[in-house]
Amino acid sequence: MKNAVPVPVTVKMRKGWNSDSINAVEVARICEAAGADAVTVHGRTREQMYAPGADWDIIRQVKQAVNIPVIGNGDVVSAQAAAQLLEQTGCDAVMVGRGALGNPWIFAQINAYLTDSCRIVPPPELSERMLVMMKHIALMCEHKGEHRAMNEARKHVGWYLKGMKNAASFRRRAGTLETWKQLEELVRDILGTNSEQQ
Ligand SMILES: Cc1cc2nc3c(=O)[nH]c(=O)nc-3n(C[C@H](O)[C@H](O)[C@H](O)COP(=O)(O)O)c2cc1C
Repeated sequence: MKNAVPVPVTVKMRKGWNSDSINAVEVARICEAAGADAVTVHGRTREQMYAPGADWDIIRQVKQAVNIPVIGNGDVVSAQAAAQLLEQTGCDAVMVGRGALGNPWIFAQINAYLTDSCRIVPPPELSERMLVMMKHIALMCEHKGEHRAMNEARKHVGWYLKGMKNAASFRRRAGTLETWKQLEELVRDILGTNSEQQ
């Protein structure tokens, strides 16, 4: 790969396949020797899927074992978690997965916390959340066509509504979205119903 492409090559791995094959340190060393520019480690095995919580210690072990940058991954769902992962493991950067679903603001929150004396950026108001969600889904429609995009948008709308009170009926509607027009109607109803709350 390194010989074939002009761009940096990075490798992402889990800590191993299962509890009998924890090999992230070994694999990271092999990647480094083969010229990888950085490695990302997700602190769970393949068998674990997403539970229990990520093992950040394996990230620390990989960081100690190689000289290339190590990107830590797993359970970074807040700015504080990002700071803890960096501190506990010494890793060079963090990668965010599920924490960004319906919450693209997490990156600004993490950056403010890390670079501006633990500054807390509050979550955006509902109107901004809905505006960004519409922009996101409009881009999906442009990119994939309305039919496919709206099907995929169902889960994104669910994620953007996460944490919103009394949203069960809106979530149900989100689960059946088929057209952009239905999304516009849904957002209008959400903002109308919630004009007095965040
Ligand atoms: C919707 C979704 C899609 C993902 N797609 C990929 C992928 O294509 N390649 C990959 O290496 N990991 C993928 N992952 C795994 C994440 O990159 C990450 O390793 C994992 O979610 C753990 O991080 P988290 O606790 O921050 O979510 C995906 C995760 C989610 C939730």
